[in-house]
Formats: sequence, C-alpha cells, structure tokens
Amino acid sequence: MGTTSVTRRALIAGAGLAAGSLSLAQMASAQSQPGAQQASPPVQVPDDPTKVQGRPPNELGDRSPFEQPRRISNGSSSSRTPLDALNGIITPSDVHYERHHGGVPVIDPARYSLLIHGLVERPTVFTLDDLKRFPGVSRIMFLECSGNTSWGKGPDNSTAQTLHGLTSTSDWTGVPVSTLLKEVGVLPGARWALAEGMDAAVMTRSVPIEKLQGDALIGYGQNGEALRPEQGYPARLLLPGWEGNINVKWLRRLELGDQPFQTREETSKYTDPMPDGTERQFTYAMEAKSTITWPTPSIGAMPARGPWEIRGIAWSGMGRITKVEVSTDGGRTWAAAKLDDPVLPIAHTRFRFPWTWNGEDVILQSRATDEGGFVQPSREELVAVRGTNSIYHYNGIQSWKVAADSGRITNFYAA
Ligand code: CO
Repeated sequence: MGTTSVTRRALIAGAGLAAGSLSLAQMASAQSQPGAQQASPPVQVPDDPTKVQGRPPNELGDRSPFEQPRRISNGSSSSRTPLDALNGIITPSDVHYERHHGGVPVIDPARYSLLIHGLVERPTVFTLDDLKRFPGVSRIMFLECSGNTSWGKGPDNSTAQTLHGLTSTSDWTGVPVSTLLKEVGVLPGARWALAEGMDAAVMTRSVPIEKLQGDALIGYGQNGEALRPEQGYPARLLLPGWEGNINVKWLRRLELGDQPFQTREETSKYTDPMPDGTERQFTYAMEAKSTITWPTPSIGAMPARGPWEIRGIAWSGMGRITKVEVSTDGGRTWAAAKLDDPVLPIAHTRFRFPWTWNGEDVILQSRATDEGGFVQPSREELVAVRGTNSIYHYNGIQSWKVAADSGRITNFYAA
C-alpha cells in the first residue's frame, strides 16, 4: 500500500529541496542548534494519505512526530522555553520554562494543604478541595525568572531560547489570595507574609501584604488543566508581573508578620548589586522587554535574500505593551511593528514586522514600550545605571546580527 519508513530529518531535508528554500547544509545547521527540532524515531509515511485509513480516535493526543519543540535544560536547576519555535502568546505547558532550587517534588494532592497563620484572627488550613470551592478566576500572564538573559552576555550562537527562554505565558486559574485573607481575618499590623514552598529547598520569600490583597492568586490550573509539577502542582502563588522566584511553587504556608522575613532568597540571592557597592533589595517588577524570536541563530543563517516576516514577543510586568518598534539598521531608525491580538496586561504580546533582506550586514533589534510609558533601554543605558555586576532584571535591547552574503545570524552586543 505504498508506505515508506523515513526519518524526519530525511523527509524535511527533501521537503526543503523541493521548496527550493533551504539547502541541505542549512537544514543540518538549523537542526543541530540546541533546542531546535530533533530527529525523531522513524514514522510510517504513506505515499498518498488519501489511500490509507488514518488512525482511530484515542484518549490522549500527541504532537505530530514532525514537531518536537524541546526545552533546553542546564541539567540541574533550570530549563528554557523554545521561544524560537512557538507561535502566538501561550506557551505549551510541557515546554514552560523551569527554575527550581531543590528539584521538582512529587506531592499527593490528597495530602496537600495550605496553612495561613501569624497575624490573623483565625489561623486556617485549606485543603486543595477547599481552595477550589472558593470563587475562582483565570488570567493569562507571563512568568519570567529575574535571572533571565544572563545580563545579555550569551555566546555568539545564543538563540532567543538560550538567552531569553526563562519566560513563558500560561492561562492560570486559581483563587484570589484576597478572598482567603478575608476568610482568615488580617490583624492590624500585618504588613508582610512569608510564602513557603514544600519542595526540598523549602523556598521562602517575603511578600508585601498589599500585593496579596491586590491581584495575587493561589493557582491550581494551567492552560485548562491542573498545574504541571514543574510549575508548582498542586498549588502555587502567582504574583502578576513580579519576578518568577517570588511566585512560590508548591505553596504550603503563608505566615503574616509585621516586617519582611529576610530569607536567603532575598538577602544573598535575588538582590541587585549597584555600581556604588550597595545592593537593591525587594526588586519585584519585571520591566518592559522584548526580543525578536525569528530570525535568530536557531536557523543558522538567512536561507535567501528577499522578504521575511520578523517575529517576536514583548512583555511587561507593569501592564500592557502599547508599542513595539523594530530597527533593521542597528538602532538608527525605528518603525512600529504590528501587535497581534490579544494584547493583554502582563502577558507575552506577539509582534510582526515585514522586512526584506538585501544581502547586506544588518543588526536587527526590537524595543518595547508599556502603558506606563516605560521604554525598554539599550544595553548601554542599562549598564550606565546598573553597572555590569548584576545578574538579575536585565531587559536591555537585544541585537541580532545578520552577516552580509552568508546570512549567518549571531547574538551581537558591544561588550
Ligand atoms: Co528582583
């Protein structure tokens, strides 16, 4: 009946030749990039799918075997979302970035509970079922590790994934923390809460009471299903717009107090060294940022001269993205990109920009502006204020260099 067993690599290489767009060498180059789609086990591909009965329905769907987006793991504590390979604004749950300090715990939801105590009238233990009985809310929002982008210092072959992949957007569902605080009764004098996880690191951070009484959620749903274990199953804290670390996963305890608790993760870590030798502490909001995700070094080189749609994402922990500008001449001139709907506050926003590569040396950049008027700074502007000892809260403009003739694409920054 005319089926042929082929590897994905051979099939895609053939398709590329047929389309006349990519050479075999260019495909191999693109495929060898970390996080790019990888060769899959052989699949039976009929010569003519209209002559062969397809498979019946089943209980659990799967991706096409030709599509294999993958996180890139550092082997110990984090993995990065394949931003280069994604469309739209929602990150598929199985490639949402990971950052954990004691591994991913296994937690039986039947034995899970959240204790709220300290400066409250009625210390209370909530089971997972208790949390789900309260009126719930859903919101689409991004999470970004404050260490994302490694202060912009990645190697030349860095991609959107390897440089910026510690950000992801999900549709989160949960119960407002404000609802639970009304339930337990906040005592006068409560100013902060200790949020504690039930992972092997027993992650702890201090959260101002205003945030908990504002838009904070205890999340139990992610993209229509339960949280993934890596994102805090069965329940986690969600603090819209704030650095990932303080969105404590596997949350088991909120203790209200009258001052910050000065935990390890807000004294020796997650503080921001300044050029004058001081450290900024309790820096929470993730400021406006963007990156082009296509093209980046994940494709190796521009396949041909001619038209190309530059694509990327922009986001801000302070609200909606109102404008993304793209420069194709290293920042001398800028033009507005098109923003795809929906443009949501504190969520990845997709932008598109039509461009024609004429075979010359170019530097591609994007610059985001949010509804508060915050404009993403250049790397130089950021370094002038913060120096180069920081490792957190880098949101400088990303430059991608396209080399003349070869079209080779590299991460580009002036050291
Ligand atoms: Co911070």
